[in-house]
Amino acid sequence: MDIAVRLEELREKRNALTGTLGLVPTMGYLHDGHLSLVRVAKQQCDHVAASIYVNPTQFSPNEDLSNYPRDLERDLQLLENEGVDLVWTPRDSDMYPDHFQTWVEVGEITTLLEGSYRPTHFRGVTTVVAKLFLAVLPDVAVFGQKDAQQALVIQRMVKDLNFPIDIVVAPIVRESDGLAMSSRNTYLNAEQRKAALALSQSLREVEAAYQAGERDADTLRKRVLAVLNDEPLAQPQYVSIADPGTLEELHGEVTCALVSMAVYVGKTRLIDNMLLGGERPSA
Ligand code: PAJ
Repeated sequence: MDIAVRLEELREKRNALTGTLGLVPTMGYLHDGHLSLVRVAKQQCDHVAASIYVNPTQFSPNEDLSNYPRDLERDLQLLENEGVDLVWTPRDSDMYPDHFQTWVEVGEITTLLEGSYRPTHFRGVTTVVAKLFLAVLPDVAVFGQKDAQQALVIQRMVKDLNFPIDIVVAPIVRESDGLAMSSRNTYLNAEQRKAALALSQSLREVEAAYQAGERDADTLRKRVLAVLNDEPLAQPQYVSIADPGTLEELHGEVTCALVSMAVYVGKTRLIDNMLLGGERPSA
């Protein structure tokens, strides 16, 4: 497995790879969710590259940039075990050179849900992902449905800017008790870890209600909230029943919907989602 740090080094090593290349962008502290993306990329392409970069511009000043978990050595070992060909661990000076002032910004879809609580977040994500794409020049890039809105935003960017890259979105990987895997789960103490199950439990309940024939968006939203409100350590920031393509909030009868939420458990902000009815659309 090749490891590149400097941009020139990355370009050189990337150019040496012949055949198709799949890219898995990450912020490291890898878990099985990340590794599932590597496996999808491997199925689709001759070679796989991964990036590990804790991107400062997608964190707002009150968020967890400085204590975001990191373990580069372990990450590299995990990627090597998966048969990754090339890992890029960019330096800040390549991603954000002095006097940096160029941003990639996607419109409406970034103002809803996560974007309404984290107003500068997606601008940071799209800018760094565009830079990763332009440096690595992959044929395919794999993202997780765990960050459903992020995947839609990237698909929108790729369409709008005509990036010649196929975006593949892979399913959410969960712990055996249902908790969606996340690098941020490491912030939870034992009591909070238990409370965090309220998120996946609320999704299972809303899925059961939907399967039993419940189609009213407001009722479905209330079902999710009722489960979350039952857990004293869980503080919902939002619960959304939205159009899976536009992310507009739905009311009245729904055919398919993206159920998504952000919930604080202590100081840790967790997100989870589930698609009800139908396939995941692209932006
Ligand atoms: P990060 O949070 O490290 O996630 C990297 C990728 O792994 C994302 O596509 C995310 O959706 C996916 N992922 C995380 N948890 C998952 C799970 N439980 N199941 C399936 N996939 C999962 O998302 C980012 O980093 C950054 O915003 C990034 C795209 C790298 C830009 O900085």
